[in-house]
Amino acid sequence: MKNKREGKVIFSPYERGDAVKKVVAISREDVLFELRESILKGRGGAGFPTATKWTLVSAAISDEKFVVCNADEGEPGTFKDRILLLEYPELIFDGMVVAGYTIGAKKGIVYLRGEYEYMLKSLEDYLGEMRKDNLLGENICGKIGFNFDITIRLGSGAYVCGEETALIESLEGNRGEARNRPPYPVNTGYLGKPTTVNNVETFAAVSHIITKGGSWFAKFGTDKSTGAKLFSVSGDCEKPGVYELPWGTTINELLEIVGAKNTKAVQVGGASGICIPKSQFNRKLGYEDAATGGSIIIFNESRNMLHILKNFMEFFVEESCGQCTPCRIGNVKLLEGIEMIENNNYTFSYLNHLKELGKTMQVASKCGLGQSSPNAFLSILENFKDEIFNNGGNNGK
Ligand code: NAI
Repeated sequence: MKNKREGKVIFSPYERGDAVKKVVAISREDVLFELRESILKGRGGAGFPTATKWTLVSAAISDEKFVVCNADEGEPGTFKDRILLLEYPELIFDGMVVAGYTIGAKKGIVYLRGEYEYMLKSLEDYLGEMRKDNLLGENICGKIGFNFDITIRLGSGAYVCGEETALIESLEGNRGEARNRPPYPVNTGYLGKPTTVNNVETFAAVSHIITKGGSWFAKFGTDKSTGAKLFSVSGDCEKPGVYELPWGTTINELLEIVGAKNTKAVQVGGASGICIPKSQFNRKLGYEDAATGGSIIIFNESRNMLHILKNFMEFFVEESCGQCTPCRIGNVKLLEGIEMIENNNYTFSYLNHLKELGKTMQVASKCGLGQSSPNAFLSILENFKDEIFNNGGNNGK
């Protein structure tokens, strides 16, 4: 692993239109080359290589293609996209224009989290400014035939609509439920047309990559996790907020930066992530170790891990769309298991069955919601079993 380097990537200097002006002077292949050089991986959490995704959409044969920005940031403990939307819209929108140019789309859509409705007017005003500057519209920046525009659509508060195919269903006016994949949106996306769905932060990273070069971006972070990442840090620390840190930063280093004391556990990846105990705080944030879309929730010694887990599972029971059985029933069963522990009315043999159920949900659920909702259950019961089963005074039967 290469030594991580300090420095700002997303928060480095950038002027509106920088990437757009640059992109119209180069070819699609040049854009894809820079993306490959950057080794940028999707910032929503899954880390799929952006160059691969855009190459696939670019190669798909269709009369129409779409660029979709997933701004349905709904993971508990995640608020980094909010900062980008409020303070750095130029990075997001310019990145979408670059995507439109690269894949050959005329239309971009931002799917904005319902709870972020208060931003809608200022974002739409911003798009109006871009149109005046010919950064959107027809023959963008004088490039004859390059026409692209962006609209914003509001979600209505369903967590599952952050999953890309449920998001597309919602955009089409249907109930937000995940589709089977494959086919992936790169071939069959919005209105059945090839679509690139990328996270807000991914578009922001693209704007810098086009302006400063893929190899510049790849200097930050580690070999497998290039660039820097925005982290939403909340919980028991003196300085919660959004931080940009190079991939490869350890959990210990992050805790020091944000002034966390007496930390017992760190939830990496929000409610759907894994709960890491103190003995593993030397782990590195990055795709090769502790991968995350950027949510970090810190718990100090005063916290009750079973209460935390119950809180997460209540969230998933509420947010499961109910379409597939492993997720609809599984989350309820895991929550019941937690309540059995609370009431000292459990057997280890039954809890072992629930752990198996959690593992089944990870592979059998239809979408990322049910595939990741057991993560907290499995990691907290494993990493904090001493606290949960001994200190609570209930030793199972
Ligand atoms: P995934 O790994 O299945 O897919 C990631 C992306 O790569 C998608 O855009 C998908 O279309 C594309 N892709 C994957 N394989 C492909 C292939 N063979 N051909 C073409 N395209 C392909 O992950 P998924 O289910 O889309 O997302 C799960 C992630 O979402 C989790 O890792 C979690 O971290 C994250 N998440 C983020 C939240 C947030 O608020 N940012 C909330 C909840 C989960």
